[in-house]
Amino acid sequence: MRSGREAWAWAWTLTAVAMLLGSATAQQAACNAADAAALQDFKADFLENGVFAAWQAGADCCSFVTCNAAGRVTAIVIVADRIGVFPNPNSAGRVGASLGRLEALQSLTLIGVRFFGPIPRAWKALSSLSTLYVSLGNFTGAIPAEIGQLKSLNELLLYVGQLEGPLPAAVCQLALLQRLEIESQQLSGELPSCLPKLTRLRTLSLANNRLAGSIPSALGSVGSLEYLGLNNNLYSQSIPATLGRLSKLQTLRLNDNRLSGFIPPALGDAASLMEINLDDNQITGSIPYSLTMLRNLASLSCNHNRLSGPIPRHIGDFQSLTFLGLSYNRLSGSLPAEIGDLQVSATTGTVGLYIDHNSLSGPLPNTLSNVGTLSASYNRFTGGFPLSLCVSGYNVDLSHNLLDSGAQVGTLPRNSSLQILDLSFNLLPGAIPSWLSSVTSLTYLDISNNRFNAGGIPAQLLALKNLDTFKAADNRLRARLPTGSFQSSITFLDLHNVQLVGSVPAKFFPSFPNLMYLDMSRNGLEGPLPSNINQLIRLFHADLSSNKLVGKVPDLSALTQLTYLNLSGNAFQAPVPSIP
Ligand SMILES: *[C@@H]1O[C@H](CO)[C@@H](O)[C@H](O)[C@H]1NC(C)=O
Ligand SMILES: *[C@@H]1O[C@H](CO)[C@@H](O)[C@H](O)[C@H]1NC(C)=O
Ligand SMILES: *[C@@H]1O[C@H](CO)[C@@H](O)[C@H](O)[C@H]1NC(C)=O
Repeated sequence: MRSGREAWAWAWTLTAVAMLLGSATAQQAACNAADAAALQDFKADFLENGVFAAWQAGADCCSFVTCNAAGRVTAIVIVADRIGVFPNPNSAGRVGASLGRLEALQSLTLIGVRFFGPIPRAWKALSSLSTLYVSLGNFTGAIPAEIGQLKSLNELLLYVGQLEGPLPAAVCQLALLQRLEIESQQLSGELPSCLPKLTRLRTLSLANNRLAGSIPSALGSVGSLEYLGLNNNLYSQSIPATLGRLSKLQTLRLNDNRLSGFIPPALGDAASLMEINLDDNQITGSIPYSLTMLRNLASLSCNHNRLSGPIPRHIGDFQSLTFLGLSYNRLSGSLPAEIGDLQVSATTGTVGLYIDHNSLSGPLPNTLSNVGTLSASYNRFTGGFPLSLCVSGYNVDLSHNLLDSGAQVGTLPRNSSLQILDLSFNLLPGAIPSWLSSVTSLTYLDISNNRFNAGGIPAQLLALKNLDTFKAADNRLRARLPTGSFQSSITFLDLHNVQLVGSVPAKFFPSFPNLMYLDMSRNGLEGPLPSNINQLIRLFHADLSSNKLVGKVPDLSALTQLTYLNLSGNAFQAPVPSIP
């Protein structure tokens, strides 16, 4: 028997040897033989398509998976190509089970490795597993209750498959779970009421499943939640007020369900909220005042619901809101001037306002200098265009309204940012507004289907240096085309049915060297067609039909891109070429 002193000496020596060995072998211990065998069995479960090419039986497995110092497999990452890896028919009934033998496995990532079968029950033995990430795995069947035995699990991420049945209560045994994301499967039934036991759960995403019934109010007791995504399910009834208790919740996505009832005012208590998405539900009522208390709320999206009444004035009290989506609702009344109080976004520097397809009416306030994108088509707005929209505006769609005043509303900023402007299908009268010719940032302008009836088409507008598309069809301009020469960057010009009169000036076509699409049909253009139309070598669509053009059709042989040419309904001398 050795003395205590001797035993200590031995222990020290052994520790030193172990440390030496450790540092020598930390570089590369040979793969543990049992682990190597488990990997080969896993490989044999699938039809090789190149993904396992490196997994040679003789090779050290630590060269293709991650091992620890002892040569035990700790992490596997397989990312198959788009076609995926399919089970070997000989492995039916046990696909993937062999991985359950990898006792040291901490992280398993399989993308595009298709099982076409259940999650192997044998994986319950993976007691060190902290991340299980399977995407496009096409697991089928129910999630086995054995999942609850993966005591080290931090992240359970199962995307895109055919998993069905309810989320088993066994997940509540996963005390370390931080991310539970089972998306794009066929989960149904009720969520287990024990979820509040998961005191570390930060992300719960069950998007794209078939969960139905009402959203359980117990979710309001999962106090650690930062992200809750139940979008694209079949949830009905109202949003539980208990969600307001989630003080750490930053993102709430309940869009694409069948939720009804009001937005619970209690949501205004979930003070960390940054994003709320309730799109595509059947929510009624209005936006509660309490939501303006959410100091960090940057995005509030309630498109495609049944919100009604006016947009409340308190909308301007939001402190960080840079995206407001209220499209496709039943909102009425006017757009409150307070909307101009919305703060600008740190990233885009502007507010995005989506209020199209409602019944909003009255004149637009001239307080929109923070708005970058305004989507306001299909309402009943009247009055004129607020020039404050040229300050930060980038994309403004006010088509299909009742705008009926050409009078200037406000003043045009010295340098405008407006690039895309759609004012089509309104009742705008008189001359095409002169301020438009000063918005040098414009790339797309549509003023079709209005009541413009004077002043012609200003050459200065056609010559805007960034303008690519100009549509002014279906007006009553009763005007001649500009006669001078100018330099236009327009590629798409639609002037059909605007009552153009007189001849096509000789300098007209050469002013559009980039023109690709030209429609001047259904007008009163007279005289011959200038032969220099043949200079528009990029032209692919030319419609000059239904005018009073006469004479010979000029040589068009340089127009090699032309795929549509319509000269019918004129008084040209035969023969008239026609494409198609
Ligand atoms: C997933 O598996 C099911 C049932 O085996 C099959 O019908 C479906 O086509 C598979 N989907 C994919 C994307 O492989
Ligand atoms: C407007 O002009 C100022 C000063 O020249 C410039 O700093 C600013 O970026 C311009 N804004 C836009 C939208 O072009
Ligand atoms: C050419 O224009 C006429 C009159 O605008 C129209 O009726 C006809 O359908 C057009 N032809 C083709 C091939 O588009």
